[in-house]
Amino acid sequence: MIASWDTDWEMARACLAWQVELGADEAICDEPVNRYALENSPKPRLNDKATPAKVDSAAEKPATDPVQDARTMAQASGDLAALEAAMAAFPHCELRQGARNLVFSDGQPNARIMIIGEAPGREEDLQAKPFVGEAGQLLNRMFAAIGIGRDSPNSDRALYITNILPWRPPQNRDPSAEERAMFRPFVLRHISLVDPDIVILMGRVSASTLLETSEGITRIRGQWHELDGRPALPMLHPAYLLRNPAAKREAWADLLELQAKLRTLP
Ligand code: URA
Repeated sequence: MIASWDTDWEMARACLAWQVELGADEAICDEPVNRYALENSPKPRLNDKATPAKVDSAAEKPATDPVQDARTMAQASGDLAALEAAMAAFPHCELRQGARNLVFSDGQPNARIMIIGEAPGREEDLQAKPFVGEAGQLLNRMFAAIGIGRDSPNSDRALYITNILPWRPPQNRDPSAEERAMFRPFVLRHISLVDPDIVILMGRVSASTLLETSEGITRIRGQWHELDGRPALPMLHPAYLLRNPAAKREAWADLLELQAKLRTLP
């Protein structure tokens, strides 16, 4: 069959509708493009044959190991302000080029409970604070139900909140394995500087990154683990609860478990 303008047009429209249905509602790429760098690169000429690029593997390799650099920078940070500055200066994560703000933390640094989420979304990127969008509002309501909140002046009833990644991934995509690995040393240092009694691993990305497990969050939620010598509780992410309201029953059980644990700790 010879495709006519009409069938091409119908086909293109159907493809576009399909992409919109999948959630692709902005016409931008997955990764930020550094157009300043592109401008200086040689433009391909129309008649150039497609020859494979010569890869000089030694030159292509980054000069340093991002995870090792992260460890060194994190360990050298003596307090939270220094850690935030180190994360802002960390050169290996390209997400910073597409993000508006570094999202470091919110809540009370003397809180007994530290929550670690995944990565900032649109609202968090705009306000430079973790969990301030719709999922964050649900998180506030969940903890308020057991008398705990990020604004509480009482450290027993307070929360301190951060994320695995401090920069928003484009289109809220999942953080890659490399991104998670390079920020893990910063998160571990963040935990030791805040020194909470309990860590809440909010969602799959947080639990799998910090516990280094491939077990699904629905299997490990509600069970106590040890992280850096302190109790850590994986919970279902509030964004998941917004999509699966029936799972709020499990989240409530986990909040009661947390409340009971707090009573047993000195
Ligand atoms: N989801 C997260 O995991 N963290 C945020 O800060 C916001 C949404």
